[in-house]
Amino acid sequence: MKIGLNQAQNLLSTGHVVAVPTETVYGLAALLCQEKAILEIFHLKKRPATNPLIIHVGTREQCIDLCEVLPPGFFELTDAFWPGALTLILPIIKEKVPSIARANLAHAAFRMPKHELAQKLLLATSPFVAPSANLSGSPSATRPEHVENDFGQDFPLLDGGSCQHGVESTILAYQDAKWQIARLGAITAEQIALSLGYLPPVAASINERPICPGQHFQHYAPKARLVLSTSCYTECTQRLPVVIGFGDREYEGAKKIYLLSERADADMAAHQLYDTLRQLDLDGIDAAWVDMLHSNEGLWQTLSERLNRAASR
Ligand code: TXA
Ligand code: MG
Repeated sequence: MKIGLNQAQNLLSTGHVVAVPTETVYGLAALLCQEKAILEIFHLKKRPATNPLIIHVGTREQCIDLCEVLPPGFFELTDAFWPGALTLILPIIKEKVPSIARANLAHAAFRMPKHELAQKLLLATSPFVAPSANLSGSPSATRPEHVENDFGQDFPLLDGGSCQHGVESTILAYQDAKWQIARLGAITAEQIALSLGYLPPVAASINERPICPGQHFQHYAPKARLVLSTSCYTECTQRLPVVIGFGDREYEGAKKIYLLSERADADMAAHQLYDTLRQLDLDGIDAAWVDMLHSNEGLWQTLSERLNRAASR
């Protein structure tokens, strides 16, 4: 059910969950001070309680107010990327952040969204948690209809159109005296290096204790099986006639082609990624191969990571 800003504000303030647009993906929001509504988010998404939620703030002061200490680089990073698609994991004053939101951890993840509606909502209410607005494990929601598909037509939804980036925020954590990338995302390591003065390494996500507990779980996956390929177009299309690829390439023998972008452009492909993965399922496609013949730099690195996860099951 599409709602306006005032209604979204009222619903949040009275302890309800609302789907809100951000510049990365849609989120399911509940005010940090409404613990029952936060619990409801875990039920709605079928999300394990061990997977903490990002706290979204309207001002940097709101973040500082919840934190115990601020690691070096905090002001440089937030000057450069807030509001925007960068999330920082910070040590917190525990009693100020409900343990359910942070899965009992002693630190929490913070981000200040740039989307105008999200900003207005935050400034009219107070900090809210917001995981991506999809069922746990499924591709994130980047358009209003994706939220409706996962949570039904009656779910309260603030319509912000299609999300600018189309992939989630980049998450940084300060460990071993440097910032590390805990989740690749819409902001690239190279962009972050410009304000930090060094290239933040990507922390291993497939180990026993990833920095982000959510990296443990299967993610972003459609029901369709994805086969990633960097070569052999023809051979692949003979076995699998459905292709996810780019408009300026030949996919001989392909019966159906889902375009990530007209030419291989990482920004456009990111914008289209989750819509494409969702469309496969709506079209009842069993399997598709994915053209991975592109660089692994900048935003392509994020796209590769998402597609590798979506393909592994
Ligand atoms: O772009 C985004 O970040 C979107 C929009 C809605 O803001 N949100 C999002 O939330 O992607 P979610 O819940 O789908 O992914 C958040 C990730 C999870 O992997 C979670 O484990 C990690 O952030 N995370 C959250 N709080 C954390 C914490 N305190 N410590 C470590 N990881 C944390
Ligand atoms: Mg998510």
